[in-house]
Amino acid sequence: MKIAVIGTGYVGLVSGVCFSDFGHDVVCVDKDPAKIEMLEAGQVPIFEPGLEDLMAKNVEAGRLTFTRDLATAIDGAEAVFIAVGTPTRRGDGHADLTFVMAVAEEIAKAATHYTVIVTKSTVPVGTNRQVKQVVRKANPDLDFDVASNPEFLREGAAIDDFMRPDRVVVGVQTDRAAQVMADVYRPLFLRDFPIVTTDLESAEMIKYAANAFLATKITFINEIAALCERTGADIKQVSKGMGLDGRIGNKFLHAGPGYGGSCFPKDTKALARIGQEHAVPMQITETVIKVNEEVKRRMIDKLLDLCDGTFNGKTIAVLGVTFKPNTDDMRDAPALTIIPAMVGGGAKVRTVDPQGMHEGEALLPGVKWMDDPYKAARNADLVVILTEWNEFRGLDLKRMAKHMATARMADLRNIYSTKDAKRAGFQAYISIGRSPLETMDEGA
Ligand SMILES: NC(=O)c1ccc[n+]([C@@H]2O[C@H](COP(=O)([O-])OP(=O)(O)OC[C@H]3O[C@@H](n4cnc5c(N)ncnc54)[C@H](O)[C@@H]3O)[C@@H](O)[C@H]2O)c1
Repeated sequence: MKIAVIGTGYVGLVSGVCFSDFGHDVVCVDKDPAKIEMLEAGQVPIFEPGLEDLMAKNVEAGRLTFTRDLATAIDGAEAVFIAVGTPTRRGDGHADLTFVMAVAEEIAKAATHYTVIVTKSTVPVGTNRQVKQVVRKANPDLDFDVASNPEFLREGAAIDDFMRPDRVVVGVQTDRAAQVMADVYRPLFLRDFPIVTTDLESAEMIKYAANAFLATKITFINEIAALCERTGADIKQVSKGMGLDGRIGNKFLHAGPGYGGSCFPKDTKALARIGQEHAVPMQITETVIKVNEEVKRRMIDKLLDLCDGTFNGKTIAVLGVTFKPNTDDMRDAPALTIIPAMVGGGAKVRTVDPQGMHEGEALLPGVKWMDDPYKAARNADLVVILTEWNEFRGLDLKRMAKHMATARMADLRNIYSTKDAKRAGFQAYISIGRSPLETMDEGA
């Protein structure tokens, strides 16, 4: 089966590589010449564990190629996937569909035979019907179907998520399109992964509802964490006690500095916007967006308290800037709110992140990038753990504390405990959702 994937970002490239690993002939298209040049040279423009090796294997097998030329790529393809960005539109929170519609029109103009045009990008309800109209207008004689196939992969675990998904959602209007989509996903179907076939609108809605629900779960536990700090409860114990309830589950119950990333912030905003447009306000989602902003601001207040009320003149080492570990993605990372507040307040900020510098350099002016957490903490007044990379999970805290100007730690991912910090010689340690009553003097 021949497949074309338009857009070689986090979703498009992973999808293209995995489809080729299913045994399909795949051409990946991007309009960014630098990306195509890198891909043709065997390099992956993003950081995603395992992607480079899987890509090399399938290129070697002759099943995977890259081009800027959409028309050649879709020639003979039975399914063409649109996997371009749908960022937040400036001003109103709506998903910006400019890229999706531009690609739809380009496909329409180049296609010459029956094609299923599949939208993998996250798009508001009704977009696939709009895509259909755009294609029909641009090429009235074309025999085609549209299909909605939202993607649920997580950056950092994208290949595993794509190859072993909880489910694949496919929205279609015709049996013919359903058959093409079944052929695309046959290897997963044969291994009994659930394929949920729906109408177009339901498929589009599933994606937004799922992301908004997960963002709600994270925000809920973050709010409970704030209450734990005031009441003497410990959020780790609370999350564990809640998560063991099968109806709740333990995923997305880890308190932290607020959700970020390329999906939750923009998808919650888009869902809120869709609700407004249909006069059905998404009140829970609207509150989640607001509370998440407050969570990030609360982090800044906690850090300020730890710095005796001012960042001015303080040297702060920040460990982790990406929105989560195992990705280089900085989009809407809490670091982009927290670090500028420290820099703006007069702190000297040093940052260490295994993959974040490439993207982060331009987004975080005024910080010094270092590659060693111990060197970054040397003579610093505070060390802040913002992203729980494995590299920061087993730190020699004693070694770190020894060379700090004042040994203070803000552990915004609850990796360590007051006891660990005290034993290592830290004078002050704060985390999320644990009572400040548990002071350094009292021990844990
Ligand atoms: N990143 C994730 O974890 C994730 C997960 C699930 C769904 N999604 C959704 O998938 C979509 C893509 O997200 P992403 O993170 O991969 O985006 P991205 O920004 O990483 O990649 C988009 C790519 O599309 C290319 N592009 C834009 N216009 C083009 C055109 N006309 N022709 C060819 N290429 C073009 C860009 O150059 C870029 O390489 C979004 O709708 C997003 O919401 C993302």
